[in-house]
Amino acid sequence: MSAPEEKTTDAVVAALLEENRVIPPPDHFRAQARLRDESLYAEAARDPEAFWAQQAQRLTWFKPWDKVLEWNPPEAKWFTGGRLNASYNCLDRHIKSGLRNKAALIWEGEPGDTRTLTYWDLYRDVNKFANVLKSLGVKKGDRVALYMPMIPELVIAMLACARIGAIHTVVFGGFSPESLQDRINDAQAKLLVTADGGFRKGSILPLKHDADYALSKCPSIEKVIIVKRDEFPLRVREGRDHWYHRLMQDAAPWCEPEPMDAEDVLYILYTSGTTGKPKGIVHTTGGYLTGVAATTEWVFDLKADDVFWCTADIGWVTGHSYVVYGPLLNGATQVMYEGSPDWPDKDRFWRLVDKYGVSIFYTAPTAIRTFMKWGPEWTQGSDLSSLRLLGTVGEPINPEAWMWYYKYVGRERCPVVDTWWQTETGMIMIAPLPGLTPAKPGSATRPLPGVSAAVLDDQGGEIPVGGGYLALTRPWPAMLRGIWGDPERYRTQYWSKWREDLYFTGDGAKRDEEGYYWLLGRVDDVINISGHRIGTMEVESALVDHESVAEAACVGISDPVKGEAIAAFVTLKDGSLPQERMDEFLKRHVEAKIGAIARPGKIIFTGDLPKTRSGKIMRRLLRDIAEGRLLGDITTLADDSVITNLKKKYEEE
Ligand code: WTA
Repeated sequence: MSAPEEKTTDAVVAALLEENRVIPPPDHFRAQARLRDESLYAEAARDPEAFWAQQAQRLTWFKPWDKVLEWNPPEAKWFTGGRLNASYNCLDRHIKSGLRNKAALIWEGEPGDTRTLTYWDLYRDVNKFANVLKSLGVKKGDRVALYMPMIPELVIAMLACARIGAIHTVVFGGFSPESLQDRINDAQAKLLVTADGGFRKGSILPLKHDADYALSKCPSIEKVIIVKRDEFPLRVREGRDHWYHRLMQDAAPWCEPEPMDAEDVLYILYTSGTTGKPKGIVHTTGGYLTGVAATTEWVFDLKADDVFWCTADIGWVTGHSYVVYGPLLNGATQVMYEGSPDWPDKDRFWRLVDKYGVSIFYTAPTAIRTFMKWGPEWTQGSDLSSLRLLGTVGEPINPEAWMWYYKYVGRERCPVVDTWWQTETGMIMIAPLPGLTPAKPGSATRPLPGVSAAVLDDQGGEIPVGGGYLALTRPWPAMLRGIWGDPERYRTQYWSKWREDLYFTGDGAKRDEEGYYWLLGRVDDVINISGHRIGTMEVESALVDHESVAEAACVGISDPVKGEAIAAFVTLKDGSLPQERMDEFLKRHVEAKIGAIARPGKIIFTGDLPKTRSGKIMRRLLRDIAEGRLLGDITTLADDSVITNLKKKYEEE
């Protein structure tokens, strides 16, 4: 494990240190905000458990819990003995309390087709699809894999699983068949829901076609349900494959929601770690729903007449928590968009904001940097006056991008909330309260009420002011409950760096005099490309899987738009094709193995890799070389001619 400073370029730190702008919430925003004073923080600090129990009252429980928290580090159980159902909380109770005809999802496909589903519509379809799943043999506790485009049926399928107590595992549609296969096999999913395809940048994502490849080696899958998005070509395998619309025609309209234990699993979501194998992060029901319901309201100042738009794909945790569960638990109206921000033109997002009167907009820094690159003129042809709050998530936002967002999208009227959290945390952990917290561009500000964080040094000593590792120091309701099928990895990965009651985030952070947190990026072998997590080991395994590759090492290097990009150092086997030809082959190979997000930005061919005497690849050095920085201490290098050659080679390119 490397020290936090290693991965942060001096320039980033210098920029953050110099950043002393403070932007208080605009008066007009503050005047109407739900939270305007510190009382929520104070209440939470007095008695965190009582505070979270109070927040859990947001939900409808079939049976109240016996105990708020059982904490046997690192195992936490929240609201034990309580019973509830996620789909009931997202739908049924709204149907009964006046929101029946409110728009839940305003959906737009990339080609411009639109559908609006009211809470009633969604409720109806979720009930029916829950019955469809049952009729195909899905039972409580079974895993259902979802490999779909951003269409309402994905939300329906998730909530239908939740209704009958099946565990959903959504696999991002951009992942390769092989990645889908690994996830299905790890989860031992019984059924797959997919679609004939989806639209992306004007072309087709052939999901069913890709899924067929994956399924050739997925013995656990018994049935496949295909949603018909368009007229995309595919093969239907008799007996195994069924059309969604046909099954829905005959489905009964009511399905009793399964009363789930608060600690029953709601979903598994795979994310990259420091090994070649993604981790199935497990989230349970009661605590997770409490955490996302509360944070959606606090951080986005969500009100009944807002139009909320989180641009994340549901394949990532942001889509789980802030497209599906958080907004629906709160009875919100939201926009859901299938496609790319530059289709047919670079102002598609702003046109959507204009058309639907979006009031809260939540996106990733990489998207903002892309908009910056395209230029502010693209924001200017649309009426953005409906916007009142902007948010970001997924990676550190550079102050420049923050200011651009604030100025050109928010027109200096909208607070910007920079929200730090992870697949593992389930809910937003560090973020401003927009009517209350003065923003400092580039800082996610302070831990939310009921959340307890600290910056620690290598020994676990607290650093009140300065840089170190970001830790979470008390359990929180939406926290992961484990890694699917791998309890040991859960312990070693997150709870063994210091003591077993201190959660290691994998991020470096700096805490300033006012207790604001400035996130500095990952300190482990995880790269954050356009807000998506990829493990260097995953890419390395994909590369060495190629018959011509002898050895590979990957590092993240800074990229002006994506945040980070992958630089791969590759040693080819004797007799392989010339390097010029291998470059594109290998990039494609990684795409095919993992997905387009993992495509290396740069491949550097080398005769040897720099290693310590004990044989460990010196990644820090590779990063320095790939970023063209001066070489650091190389006294531990077994053969420093390797480095000289590498550096020379890199400079030649
Ligand atoms: C990074 C996404 C800085 C961080 C919700 C974290 C951030 C990883 C921020 C989790 C932020 C997320 N500022 N860095 N506001 N938000 N990150 O699991 O490195 O896809 O550990 O969850 O993204 O990524 P994940």
